[in-house]
This record gives sequence, structure tokens and C-alpha cells, in this order.
Amino acid sequence: MRLDKYISDACICSRSQAAGIIRSGKITVGGNTITKPDYKVNEKSSEISLDGNLLKYSEFIYIMMNKPQGVVSATDDPREKTVLSLLPENYLSKGLFPAGRLDKDTVGLLILTNDGKAAHKMLSPKYHVEKTYFVECDAPFLEKDIEMCAQGIPLDGELTKPCILKIDPEHRNRGSIVLTEGKYHEIKRICGYLGKKVLFLERTDFAGLSLDPSLSRGEWRHLTESEIYILRHSGANN
Ligand code: URA
Repeated sequence: MRLDKYISDACICSRSQAAGIIRSGKITVGGNTITKPDYKVNEKSSEISLDGNLLKYSEFIYIMMNKPQGVVSATDDPREKTVLSLLPENYLSKGLFPAGRLDKDTVGLLILTNDGKAAHKMLSPKYHVEKTYFVECDAPFLEKDIEMCAQGIPLDGELTKPCILKIDPEHRNRGSIVLTEGKYHEIKRICGYLGKKVLFLERTDFAGLSLDPSLSRGEWRHLTESEIYILRHSGANN
């Protein structure tokens, strides 16, 4: 791999910015300063440092975002503000996209990545990856709603996959619903079928990960190594 590609991926910057960093003499490979952007390195074995700090190569980026209301889960949109616009500019050329969609008014856990294979696994119905939503409705959930969710709710002429509804005993118009698929407006339509309107919807868990409580709405962070492992191995068929 060319050194400028390595630096561009490891430092999340453009190739030309990477070339600038290399030419400025800040990069060492195996202890030797290298100033040529086309110098060849091995991303698995070369010891590459920036200003003396060892860099870690990662082919892909994985981000956990606490999506706020009012932004759409898209890479670009002619009218609306997108979740990508919440990231710094140097991330915008990295091919990131949201792994799955949350409605404009839904908040909570959203994963952004440029790892298409991992995203496909998280989203494919084949893998039954779990997604948990906290929901607040305009009317209380009833015990029979639990059973109806477990049986599957008729939407689009077929039953949804069985889903688990837990009612908050203190506030019965609140609860959590676990889905293993992702139909359009699925939670809102399930609740609609049960005779309720959703007033607030937050995704709290996705693919084995829980929303980091230290992230405020609109904030994001990189996933840790162990979270990436969990994400990659989530789903029943893994
Ligand atoms: N179900 C919905 O209705 N909306 C979402 O954003 C996610 C799941």
C-alpha cells in the first residue's frame, strides 16, 4: 500500500492532506523518516508513526451516533439536514453511510460505517439482528398487545416477525419493543395497529450495542475494538 493511502485512512484525511503530512517530515516508517507519499508500506506489519506516535491502521470506520430529531438518515438530501452533516468535514470523503434508517423524528443509536459487508449483515433479515426501541404512545399498552406482538402484526399483507413488547409498569403508555427486521415505519405502524399513536421513539440498542449514555443527542464517537467485534458477530446466523 502507498504511504499516503495509509496515512489518509489512519488519520481520516484526504490523500493530498496525507501527502502534505508526509512531505513535512512528520512520518517515520520503522524509525526512518519518509517524505515520499508513494513509498510502499505493509499495513499489517509496518511500524508507522506520526510525530513519534504509533499509528494504527484500520481499513474501515465505525461510528456510533446519538441521532437527534430533525435530521434524516441519508448521505445527502436536497432539502433536509443529514446525519453525515453532524460529522467533521474530513469524514465526508470516506464513503460513510448510515447502517439502516431512523425516521427524521426518531432519535438514538445509529451506526455509520463505510464497511458495506458488515452493514449488509447488520441489515439483512437473514441474520435476525436485534434492534430495541423505547417508545412512548398516546394511550396505554395492554397485556393483549404483548401477545399480539409475539404472534406478529399484520403489515403490508403479511405478519411482522415476532417482536417482544415490554410494558413499563409505572407508565403503561411507555415500553420497549425488540425487532429483528426493519420494515418502513415499523414501530409506528405496529403501535398504530394496536390503536396507539407514537409520541416519542428512541432506538436504544442495535446489533448487540447499546447507546452510549455519555453521548448527547447529535454527538458521536468511534466504536471501540470490542464493539466492532460485537457488531461484526451480531445476528443469529453468525
Ligand atoms: N420504526 C419506526 O416507525 N421508525 C423508526 O425510525 C424506526 C423504527
